Amino acid sequence: MIYFGADHAGFHLKQVLIRHANGLGHETKDFGTDSEASVDYPDFAKEVCLAMEDHPEIQAVLICGTGNGICIAANRFPWIRAALCRTPMEAQMARAHNNANVLCLGGRVTAEPLAGAILETFLTTEFEGGRHERRLEKIQEF
Ligand code: RB5
Repeated sequence: MIYFGADHAGFHLKQVLIRHANGLGHETKDFGTDSEASVDYPDFAKEVCLAMEDHPEIQAVLICGTGNGICIAANRFPWIRAALCRTPMEAQMARAHNNANVLCLGGRVTAEPLAGAILETFLTTEFEGGRHERRLEKIQEF
């Protein structure tokens, strides 16, 4: 199951990536927004991230204009590891080394085909554990 959330600046890319994920055989849940009317990205980050609490199996995609704001908001929650990715390589490392459970994208930054490739990489890359687990545990101790 993949949760999706976006503000108005991420709305279009969200719709594209939901179709992409469904085409790959993934179940999806859309937390909005539902149009290009102006909204506040923290509201959508909050709703998606609260729904992920106690569900480590769920991954999410959050999109705003740059990806920055919605990523900052998501990382306020201790169970969230949100990563802003501009390339498939960053998505691979975000999963393999950071065990990211939220992929953040910029709807005004990343073109659709590239965003699709980033999403596919994110969904197919496993966390490597080992020394990376130790580093994530240190973050939890902050
Ligand atoms: C909205 O204009 C824009 O500020 C927002 O989508 C995002 O880019 C913030 O980080």
